[in-house]
Amino acid sequence: MNRVIIFDTTLRDGEQAAGGSLNVQEKLQIAKQLECLSVDVIEAGFPVSSPGDFTAVNTIAKEVRTPIICGLCHANPKAIDRTWDALKVAARPRIHLFLSASDVHLVYQLKKSRDEIVELAYASIVRAKKYTDDIEFSPMDASRTEPEFIYRIVQAVIDAGATTVNIPDTVGYAIPGEFGKLIGGIFKNVTNIKKAVISVHCHNDLGLAVANSLEAVKQGARQVECTINGIGERAGNASLEEIVMAIKTRQDFFKLSTGVNTTEIYNASRLVRDLTGFSVQPNKAIVGGNAFRHQSGIHQDGVIKMPITYEIMDPKTVGIPSSSLVLGKLSGRHAFRERLSELGYHLTEDSFNRAFQAFKDLAEKKKEVLDKDIESLVAEEQRTVAETYHLDRIQVTSGDRGIPTAAVRLIGPGGKVLEDAALGTGPVDAVYKTINRIVQVPNTLTEFSVKSVTEGIDAIGEVVIRIESDGITYTGRGADTDIIVASGRAYMNALNRLIAERQSAGKPARKS
Ligand code: KIV
Ligand code: ZN
Repeated sequence: MNRVIIFDTTLRDGEQAAGGSLNVQEKLQIAKQLECLSVDVIEAGFPVSSPGDFTAVNTIAKEVRTPIICGLCHANPKAIDRTWDALKVAARPRIHLFLSASDVHLVYQLKKSRDEIVELAYASIVRAKKYTDDIEFSPMDASRTEPEFIYRIVQAVIDAGATTVNIPDTVGYAIPGEFGKLIGGIFKNVTNIKKAVISVHCHNDLGLAVANSLEAVKQGARQVECTINGIGERAGNASLEEIVMAIKTRQDFFKLSTGVNTTEIYNASRLVRDLTGFSVQPNKAIVGGNAFRHQSGIHQDGVIKMPITYEIMDPKTVGIPSSSLVLGKLSGRHAFRERLSELGYHLTEDSFNRAFQAFKDLAEKKKEVLDKDIESLVAEEQRTVAETYHLDRIQVTSGDRGIPTAAVRLIGPGGKVLEDAALGTGPVDAVYKTINRIVQVPNTLTEFSVKSVTEGIDAIGEVVIRIESDGITYTGRGADTDIIVASGRAYMNALNRLIAERQSAGKPARKS
């Protein structure tokens, strides 16, 4: 088999990243983009972990029909039955069972023997097999497990009917040569190995997730589990874009291919960045802002003469839009629509109308509207949530003499006008305190960041915040040429998400 199966786990392991939480509609948007990207498998969530995850997996299973839709599942009968409830509407469902395998997990966490683990794994597969033929099994913490036990468990789960066996480097401990040896050992020592696909799932704690995955592919693994922008638990997972582009760019070396439509990589990366609020570092391979920028004179000279001198990939292959047009206040709907489509956006008519209005408002304040500004406007549009409270007005006074003061007007449920004012340590603090006085939804601000979208004094300021309530994190994003307004919008975005989630769980949002 010369094809490497790309298993995307952005919506499951990716969403496990600290501070990353997406609502059902956002997960569906990402799943649709993953379908455009032509990944083979989407791990849509962990249905038994929460009602929200169950709904997300079920919704994606209904609406995304081309790739395999997979749900992660504990190895116990109740979890298997419930996971199937979420997945059964899928065109191509997969149940992904997992159980710890390393002694350190068995002794300290599960308090089970190796024999018990093998029995449990076998029985779970037999039960899941009643529902679907497509079963994946993961012996968790495989890279810290004695290889002989991995061979034994792989042999047993294939006997039970697993069609994919995934070897996870759960804690990102492996080193490429050593991990490759483990994968090679599985092919040599497991006699029924031809009946299953060997997969790998590498974490990035030592920055080796991609290297370990590629080494495993060299040794015969034919499925790689990865996430867009490499997001995931702790230091993240192997990054999809790096795996896919390494296999494509070094086809001469790997002699393998993937089914990924690489021209959708940039769109996927941008969507995940905007919806999760996890920015992409400028030097990130493939999708970072500097990945295709040449600074040194010698490099620039070479690239102008012949791009291949210093560019191993054409930015167009990953869908990075080439900047040409600059829009301004005289640009109309047609030019804006054209530019959106060149930038890879496909908005509904309603979304387009709102984005166009936002563009017109911005063009009144900013002479030139650049691609990054448009990306920021669309990100704002994509992150909209049903607004219980709408931010209507903000007025602040601040400086190094007076006491920072804010007055805020919100439009609340039923169109009610709600106004208040408060003092703060700075203008943003004053705005947030005022909003809290009106909305009265207890929460803690855990993260606040502001950055400018483009260069120049008239640039849009983009604010991303995270608030926490009852152990759940909600991300908010706001953008405006006035950073106090952007901060207010970001806070309202996060608060409205919190309120919407509480309402859908039948809980009161306000302090009684
Ligand atoms: O890292 C890990 O081991 C996992 C498994 C559930 C596959 O995410
Ligand atoms: Zn993982």
